[in-house]
Amino acid sequence: MHHLKLNRAIALLLAATSALVPTAAAGGLPVRIVDWNIRYATSSPGRNEKPWWDLLCPLSSSRCRQPHVVAQLQSIVDGTEHDAGPGAVSIVALQEALANQVDDVHKGLRGGTGTWARLGRGRDDGDRRGEFNPVFYRTDQLRLVHDEMKWLSETPDAPSRSWGAGSNRVVVVGVFEHIATGKRFIHANTHLDNASRQARAEGIKVAVRVVRAVRDAHGAGLGVTLTGDFNSVAGAAGDGDAYQTLAGMDFLTEVADPGVGAQKIGGITTTWTDFDTDGISRIDFVWLGPNKENLTTAQRWEILDNNVDGMKVSDHRATYADVTFN
Ligand SMILES: *[C@@H]1O[C@H](CO)[C@@H](O)[C@H](O)[C@H]1NC(C)=O
Ligand SMILES: *[C@@H]1O[C@H](CO)[C@@H](O)[C@H](O)[C@H]1NC(C)=O
Repeated sequence: MHHLKLNRAIALLLAATSALVPTAAAGGLPVRIVDWNIRYATSSPGRNEKPWWDLLCPLSSSRCRQPHVVAQLQSIVDGTEHDAGPGAVSIVALQEALANQVDDVHKGLRGGTGTWARLGRGRDDGDRRGEFNPVFYRTDQLRLVHDEMKWLSETPDAPSRSWGAGSNRVVVVGVFEHIATGKRFIHANTHLDNASRQARAEGIKVAVRVVRAVRDAHGAGLGVTLTGDFNSVAGAAGDGDAYQTLAGMDFLTEVADPGVGAQKIGGITTTWTDFDTDGISRIDFVWLGPNKENLTTAQRWEILDNNVDGMKVSDHRATYADVTFN
């Protein structure tokens, strides 16, 4: 009798304990890092390019890009094709998004502005003007501990450009805390210049300097991920300038690097397609690190098709990496 009671008490205690400990705690925090250059909403779409949104969009689902971009982001977050695993949370990082596009995505993701929050501002005025590098996260999963945005220039604190850059370029950095476990990590998002090799190479150095400073200030032991359209291919050939510069800093490693050991899902190998090709090059990346500290590991990554019923919904393809902050 006494024994039975004790066993029951122990069983209840165990059940209560395991209910309190989230799935994520045992093996680190799993995070699906999504990266996509969604193409700015131009007022003069090029060949085969559909508008982001216009007055006629409600009449036909094949007329505009916006609903398809939002739906694809939602399906990646939901893990419709490939589950991110138990307890996984989401980071959604975009490039080229103008203020109206940032607002559309924010309202369009399930739960809208009541569930999702974002960091990042317009690169032309530090407010609403110009392209954003927004980072979205769910406020029921993550708490933002710190965020900042710097310009990739010789004067990073103000809207500016250097080294022959064609546009202002920025890095957006967030320190996030997983609400259920208290686990923290850093995510950074950027879009390097398309006009100047030097601006790309110097720009990624500024981005890394900013990430390192944030890490020094908010916990030297934090894992780091970085997403970006690099306008620069992997490898040494061609315009691999920014990729080579970042790899050479021995701070972060790109998820496709064999040393990471992440499984590549599916057969798509290019991320930039323009609106009228099947693939030009792979210039959009997810990086993780810091190297040698084993704070961040990656399990799988994938490049998604940007064709929906014959419409290219952006001139880039979305990519994601499933990482674990150990
Ligand atoms: C860079 O991209 C912008 C915007 O898409 C475009 O207008 C410009 O021509 C591009 N510059 C180069 C050098 O490719
Ligand atoms: C890295 O950390 C993970 C999770 O703690 C562990 O399973 C793995 O063995 C570690 N790898 C190395 C090389 O230490």
